[in-house]
Amino acid sequence: MLLRRSESLHSTIQSSEITPQDAFEQYRRQRRFVIGGAATLTVGALAYGHIPGLLLPSSTVHAQTLPSAPSKYTTTENQTPFAKATHYNNFYEFGTDKSDPARNAHTLKTRPWTVQVTGMVKKPQTLDIDAILKYRPTESRIYRHRCVEAWSMVIPWDGYSLSEFINFCEPLPSAKYVQFVSLVDKKQMPDLPGGYDWPYSEGLRLDEAMNPLALLTFGCYGQVLPNQNGAPIRVVMPWKYGFKNAKSIVRFHFTDKQPHTTWNEINSQEYGFYSNVNPQVDHPRWSQAHERRIDSSAFPRTIPTQMFNGYADQVASLYNGMNLKRYY
Ligand code: MTE
Repeated sequence: MLLRRSESLHSTIQSSEITPQDAFEQYRRQRRFVIGGAATLTVGALAYGHIPGLLLPSSTVHAQTLPSAPSKYTTTENQTPFAKATHYNNFYEFGTDKSDPARNAHTLKTRPWTVQVTGMVKKPQTLDIDAILKYRPTESRIYRHRCVEAWSMVIPWDGYSLSEFINFCEPLPSAKYVQFVSLVDKKQMPDLPGGYDWPYSEGLRLDEAMNPLALLTFGCYGQVLPNQNGAPIRVVMPWKYGFKNAKSIVRFHFTDKQPHTTWNEINSQEYGFYSNVNPQVDHPRWSQAHERRIDSSAFPRTIPTQMFNGYADQVASLYNGMNLKRYY
């Protein structure tokens, strides 16, 4: 049975009802169903070979075959209501007002969708989105989501660690950074604002991208990503300001040089390459010491912002010895 992309990532089962092991077993059973004659391929084998499993055509979307198991990388804070997380967005390709993407992003076509892997990798290639989606079981991770504009949300994302995908890409030892390039298409984005150097581009040092918290994301709230949240594939970096989370990615580029990033290019004084959440380093035009939750009363900003957005235990060591005021 083929599902429409608006259906749940795990429509037959809630993540709260299943153990990780159950989820994995179900994933394995259903994966066999998805790939039919290729049933003897194991998930692990995919990591090493460029086998047809990663070149499946988009028509084989079996969204219910990806139950998201609960993850250990999860906060227990109250979740932001789905309606807020999907109607208060930054996705400038569909307009610069927070309400624009929910209104306009229906013109984004997320199938067929291919993703290029380019630059310093063993084998540059083009992959089908559904094969990437099915490459590993997805987990539901409830993350704090902190925007540089000093608001925050708490969102359950569905995906798997970006490191798993990067390992599949086999970057060369000389690769030091990964760049994410978003789709740009005037036909699908008739409101594309002028004055920006499209496509949207972001990047990370490779060791940051390999941190287990970095999430390759296909869904939120147990559903495939709504278009306005970056369908069909985006990244989520919970310890960084939201603009590092490139949406609707069409290319992963591996390089030995710090890549061009959109907001840094627009205003490097205000938007650094690292953009780690840091209450001690203010944005030139406002304090970063406090934030407001989007689901609570609008102002003032009363919640103290945490270093690395509360993820210091997992990520602080990435920046040992670095002056975080300089490398903001
Ligand atoms: N990706 C693209 N392609 N275009 C954008 O305008 N905005 C960024 C980021 N990724 C943006 C993007 C910013 S500023 C933020 S805060 C987050 O997406 C917002 O993600 P959300 O709408 O899911 O909360």
